[in-house]
Amino acid sequence: MRKKIVAGNWKMNKTFEEAEELLTALAENLDDNKMKCEVVVCPPSVYLELASDFADESALQVGGQNASNHESGAYTGEISASMLESMDVDYCIIGHSERRKYYGETDNLLAEKANALLDHDILPIFCCGEVIEEREKEIHFEVVKKQLTNGIFHLSEDEFQNVVIAYEPVWAIGTGLTASPDQAQEIHAFIRGLVADKYNNEIAENTSILYGGSCNAGNAKELFSQADVDGGLIGGASLKADEFLKIADSF
Ligand code: 13P
Repeated sequence: MRKKIVAGNWKMNKTFEEAEELLTALAENLDDNKMKCEVVVCPPSVYLELASDFADESALQVGGQNASNHESGAYTGEISASMLESMDVDYCIIGHSERRKYYGETDNLLAEKANALLDHDILPIFCCGEVIEEREKEIHFEVVKKQLTNGIFHLSEDEFQNVVIAYEPVWAIGTGLTASPDQAQEIHAFIRGLVADKYNNEIAENTSILYGGSCNAGNAKELFSQADVDGGLIGGASLKADEFLKIADSF
């Protein structure tokens, strides 16, 4: 079944104490019975164990921000999918535009990361989205299609059912510019159509497609009310408990 999800990508923010404070506020205020969606926190990896402890005692779920394509070995500084699994991590973001831009991550590498995560029962949140020049040239549909084709469309039907897609137009990330609800719906529907063409209608209907890019408590309701927007991947607005909880309540 298609899940509604609000995931907070903390990026490289928060000290240990601040992380504990935010997790405490989230865990205390999430009411199991009133939750309208899955609520996921994706803290920096050094806080994943802490986040997992909070998740044990609350309705929170935990996601990583990145994972290695390798299983284990001499890869200094990397974190493997098996390590994430051993800390009860549920999800892991891959292919965020910041990783593509600053760390040269390619779709082929992301395909390997998706495989590694699925091998360890972690649900990949696969990010895609165009830069401003691509939108201006009106090639954003092609760009997203290529990212999905090369990054996750090699997966089998069974595997693909454990993938979440996040559409994040790069021009909307951290800029205060948000895709309009119509723009978001248009490309989310396009993505769902691609999934239907590649797999089938049932899998497409069951795939969660999240929107990311300057999503906040003020605009989440309108974005999430679009037929093909199943929630959000939230950056800046996930760093404050009140705001993040309001977003999670916006369905
Ligand atoms: P902002 O919500 O800060 O624009 O970031 C979005 C994002 O990159 C989430 O992964």
